[in-house]
Amino acid sequence: MKLIKKSLAVLCMAALPAFAANPVSVTIDAGKPGPVINKNVYGQFAEHLGTGIYEGMYVGTGSKIPNTKGWRNDVVGALKQLHVPLVRWPGGCFADEYHWKDGIGPRAKRPVKVNTNWGGVEESNAVGTHEFFDLVDLLGADAYVNGNLGSGTVQEMADWVEYMTSDSKSSLANLRRKNGRDKPFKVAYFAIGNEAWGCGGNMTPEHYTNLYKNYETMLKAPKENRPLMIASGGNDYDIKWTDVISKNAKAQTSAISFHYYTIPTGKWEGKGAATGFAEPHWISTLANTLKIDSMIRNNIAVLDKNDPEKKIGLYVDEWGTWYDVETGTTPGFLYQQNTLRDAVVAALNFNIFHQHADRVHMTNIAQMVNVLQAMILTEKDKMLLTPTYHAFHMYVPFQDATSLPVKVADDKAYTLGETTIPGISASAARAKDGKLYLSLVNTNPGQPADVVVNVAGKQLAGANGRVLTATAMDAHNTFQNPQAIKPAPFSAKASGGKLTVTVPAKAVVVVALEG
Ligand code: AHR
Repeated sequence: MKLIKKSLAVLCMAALPAFAANPVSVTIDAGKPGPVINKNVYGQFAEHLGTGIYEGMYVGTGSKIPNTKGWRNDVVGALKQLHVPLVRWPGGCFADEYHWKDGIGPRAKRPVKVNTNWGGVEESNAVGTHEFFDLVDLLGADAYVNGNLGSGTVQEMADWVEYMTSDSKSSLANLRRKNGRDKPFKVAYFAIGNEAWGCGGNMTPEHYTNLYKNYETMLKAPKENRPLMIASGGNDYDIKWTDVISKNAKAQTSAISFHYYTIPTGKWEGKGAATGFAEPHWISTLANTLKIDSMIRNNIAVLDKNDPEKKIGLYVDEWGTWYDVETGTTPGFLYQQNTLRDAVVAALNFNIFHQHADRVHMTNIAQMVNVLQAMILTEKDKMLLTPTYHAFHMYVPFQDATSLPVKVADDKAYTLGETTIPGISASAARAKDGKLYLSLVNTNPGQPADVVVNVAGKQLAGANGRVLTATAMDAHNTFQNPQAIKPAPFSAKASGGKLTVTVPAKAVVVVALEG
C-alpha cells in the first residue's frame, strides 16, 4: 500500500510541469505608495448610436422587458456590479448634432431627428436629459455630459447648463421642475464639443481653443454646482491639440480629452474581424493597444511643460477596440463581438492607465452596450456579459486604490514575425479594503508564464483571486452559450515569502496578496 501511494505521488509530481528555472520576476514596492487610481479610470461611454442606448439599455416604460423608468433591469443590474463610476453621454459625434431641447417634455411630442453620423436612422429623442439622469441615478454613477459645439450655439449650451444646474426660479430652472425634476441635477463633468478636428467641426486646434474659451466663459452655473469643464483634444499621436489648449485655455480647463482606438490592422479600411482571427491579428491588436502608453506619455510631456502645477487632467474619454462590423448588421451601428482578446486589451490598458494615475484621472471605454468594445450585448430580452465586462469586474478593487511601483524583470518577450511585445504586464495597488492587489496579464497565446512575485520587506503567504482565460484566442459568449468564457477562481502559493504563480497563456489574473 505504502509503495502504491509513493509511486502515485511520484507520478503526480512528474505530471506537474516544473516551475521555470528563470521565471519572470515581479517586485512590488509597497513602501512607496504612488498616486491614487481615480475610480473614473473605469468610466463608461454611452452614445446615441445603433442599439447602444435604444434596445440595449432603454426599452421604454411600456416594454415587456422588465425595466425601471424605461431602463432594462437586467442590464442596469449587471452594470451596477462594475461599480460604474461615471457615464459619458450623449456622444461622441452625436453630441455635436444633439439639441437638448428636443429631449425634454412629453415624449410623444418630442421631435424625431435623423442620426446622420450613425446609420441615418430616426432618433426619437425618447432618451433625453431627464432619462439620462435616471440612468446614472440607477447606476449610482456620476454624469459626464458632452455639449454641442459643432452645430449648436453658445446660448443653447449655456441654457442647457442653466437648465440642469440652476436652483433659481429662472424660467429654465422652472421648466426643469415642470418636467419632473425639482432639485438641480449634478453634472460632475461637462465637455465642450467632441473631436473638433473631425466630426465635431473639422477645426484647427487654434480655432477650437478660441471657441472653447468663449463657450466656457458663457456657461454659468452656481459655484457649488459647476461641472468640471473639459476641452476636447486630439487623438492617436497628435499632441498639437493638447499643446494649444493647455497653453491658451489653461485657466479654464479641468482636463483635456484624448481618443485612441485599437484596430488590428491599424487601418480604418479593413480593420480586421472581431472573431475567427489568427495569431498575427492577436499580436497586432495587442501591439497596437500598447501604443497608447507612448501616446499618453507624449501628451503628459506637453502638459508637464505647459502645466507643471498639474492642474489639467488628461482624460482618455474614448478608447477600445474597433473591428469590422459583424456580417449582417447595420454598418453604422458598430456592432462587434467581444472575445478573450478584448479582455486582454482592456487589462493592458488598465495597467497603463494605472501607471499614469497622476495625470490620467478619467477614461471611458467605447462603449457600454452593443457598440464597439462593449460590456454587454443584448438580443431582444436576452443579455450576455462579454469578456471585457469580466475584465472590468476583476479590476473593481483598483478603483480609488493607491498605486504601487512594480518592477518586472526577466520578462520573456512574446514575438511573432516582426512583432515583439512584453510577455507579462503587471500592476499593483493598495485598495480601499486595505488589501494589496496584483494584476498579471500574459500576452502570449501559446505559453504560460512562471512568475515570482515579491513584495519588498514583506513575507507573502499566498494569493487568491480570479483568472480569465480560454482555449481559443477568440473565445466569446453567445446568446446560445452565454457562459462560454467567464472568470475562474485562481490561487497561488508562496515559498520563502515569495509568491510563485503560473499565469496561463493568454490570461488576465487579478489576485489579493496574503501575508
Ligand atoms: O465611439 C464611436 C465614435 O468614435 C464617436 O462618436 C466619436 O467621437 C469617435 O470617432
